[in-house]
Amino acid sequence: MQDTSFNSKLRKKAQSVNYILQQLLAAENRIDADLKEALRYTLGTPGKRVRSVLVLWCCELVGGQVNRNAEIAAAAIEMVHTYSLVHDDLPAMDDDDLRRGLPTCHKVFDEATAILTGDALLTLAFEILAKQIDKPEIAVRLIAQLAEDAGPSGMMAGQIADLKAENAACSKKVLEYIHTNKTAKMFRCAAAMGAVCGGATKEHLDRLSEYGLKIGLGFQIADDILDVSASSEQLGKTAGKDARAAKCTYPAVVGVERAKELERKLADEAVAVLEPFGEKADTLRQLALALLERTK
Ligand code: IPE
Ligand code: IPE
Ligand code: MG
Ligand code: MG
Ligand code: MG
Repeated sequence: MQDTSFNSKLRKKAQSVNYILQQLLAAENRIDADLKEALRYTLGTPGKRVRSVLVLWCCELVGGQVNRNAEIAAAAIEMVHTYSLVHDDLPAMDDDDLRRGLPTCHKVFDEATAILTGDALLTLAFEILAKQIDKPEIAVRLIAQLAEDAGPSGMMAGQIADLKAENAACSKKVLEYIHTNKTAKMFRCAAAMGAVCGGATKEHLDRLSEYGLKIGLGFQIADDILDVSASSEQLGKTAGKDARAAKCTYPAVVGVERAKELERKLADEAVAVLEPFGEKADTLRQLALALLERTK
C-alpha cells in the first residue's frame, strides 16, 4: 500500500495486534515446544492484520474505545485467518511455498506440523474467547459468530467450492458464492465481533456486518486481480498461481476491467452503509477506499 497517513494508522493498529498475539502466545506454557515454535513462526510472519484491525476499529466506533474483549476477539480472528492460510498453502490445497514473503509453514517445518499448527490456531482461538472474554453472554455471541463465518456455512463452504471449481466452467453466480464464503464472511465476522465487543445496537451491528461483507468481497476480488498483475516479490506470495491452477477468479470470469469496476462499486456501497454513523466512521470509509489501492 502507498504510504499515506491512513496506511500508517493501519500499520500502527496492526502493530498493536502483533503485540497482543505475542503476549497471548508467551502466556501459553502448556504447548509442546515444536508446536510452539511453529505457532510462533506462523503468527510472527508479517500479515497485514486487516481483519483483526477491523475488529478494533468497529469496537472503537460503537463503544468509543478499544476494550480487552475486542483485543481478544481481534487475536482470535487473526489466529483463525492464519490457520486458514497455513492449510490453504498445503500441497493438497493450493500448494504454495511462499507466504507473507517467507517460506510457508509446511516448508519450514513439515506437512504434519503445518496441519497441526493450523488445528492448534483454530482451537486456540475458541479457547481464548471462551476463557478470556469478561462476560459469558458476549463470549457465546463471539464464538457463535466466528464458528458460523469460519465454519462449514462460511469459509469452509467457500474453500471447498474453490477447489471443486478448479478446471471447471464457472458462472458469475458460483464465483460470487466462492468469494463471499471463503473471504467476505471473515470480514463480516471481524466487523460483527468488534461491534458486539463495543456494545452495538442491533441496527449498528447489522450495518457493520453488511459493511464487512462488502469490503470482504472487494478484498478477494483485489486478491484475484493482484494475482494476475503483481509480482511474487511485491505480494510476498506466488503470483500467477490462479491461472496455473485454473481457479475460478474475477479476472478469469469477467476480466480485469470489469473486476475493478465491481470492486469500486462494492467500496462505494460499503461507504454508503456507514452513513448513519456520521464522521465517526471516517476511518472505516478510508479503509474501504484504501483497499482499492492496495498493492499487496
Ligand atoms: C489472504 O489474506 C487470503 C485472502 C483471503 C485473500 P490477506 O491478504 O489478508 O493475507 P495476510 O494476512 O495479509 O497475509
Ligand atoms: C484464500 O484464497 C482464502 C482463504 C480462506 C485462505 P486464496 O487461495 O486466493 O488466497 P491466497 O491468494 O493463497 O492468499
Ligand atoms: Mg485458496
Ligand atoms: Mg491460496
Ligand atoms: Mg489468491
